Amino acid sequence: MSRPKILAFTGSGSRPSLNRQLLDVAVKEAVRAGAEVTVLDLLNYPVPIYTGELEAREGVPANARKLKAIFGEHEGLLIASPEHNGSIPALLKNALDWVSRPDLGQNGLVPYQNKVAALLSASPGNLGGLRGLMQLRHVLQSLGVLVQTKQYALARAHEAFDEEGRFLNPRQHAAVVGVVQQLLTLVRALKAVREDG
Ligand SMILES: Cc1cc2nc3c(=O)[nH]c(=O)nc-3n(C[C@H](O)[C@H](O)[C@H](O)COP(=O)(O)O)c2cc1C
Repeated sequence: MSRPKILAFTGSGSRPSLNRQLLDVAVKEAVRAGAEVTVLDLLNYPVPIYTGELEAREGVPANARKLKAIFGEHEGLLIASPEHNGSIPALLKNALDWVSRPDLGQNGLVPYQNKVAALLSASPGNLGGLRGLMQLRHVLQSLGVLVQTKQYALARAHEAFDEEGRFLNPRQHAAVVGVVQQLLTLVRALKAVREDG
């Protein structure tokens, strides 16, 4: 069976970013476990805030079309997202909304079909962005994505890493490994079922 194709990205538009640090650890683990990982930076695909008026006037923007194609080429989503005011950052929600729009005769949900998603978050706060993850889970499920049970919200993330970006606490590292392992297991299982059927 070919290697699971994972699209990894963060909902953070900041540099440096705690969620990027967390994502980096998860990506390394996914590669180590045999995945083929594409790291996507949403800042490289700027899209305007979605409005129906803009869409009616100009259609789906070129960068949103590129994002739709990139989503479509992968089997798993590995997302590390900050929580903004208890919810999904606008950068991420806007990208997900544009990717969900019908385009070139294709149903908008196609880029989300047969996808498994694993969710991570990092925050300096004590909840680690957990409330945002609950909402992100809901949005992705609404789009038809199978959002796996294992997730990890890293609390006090500004104290979690050493200078090389490694976890200081092995239990936190193990939690991320657990999330990545479940993602690869589910992607492989879904692929096996689809290839059988
Ligand atoms: C507009 C805004 C709202 C925020 N709301 C929350 C929040 O609800 N919960 C939380 O834990 N942190 C919140 N934060 C703080 C972020 O967790 C913090 O900036 C974190 O570093 C963001 O992740 P990043 O470094 O990957 O960008 C907020 C930050 C911004 C800019």
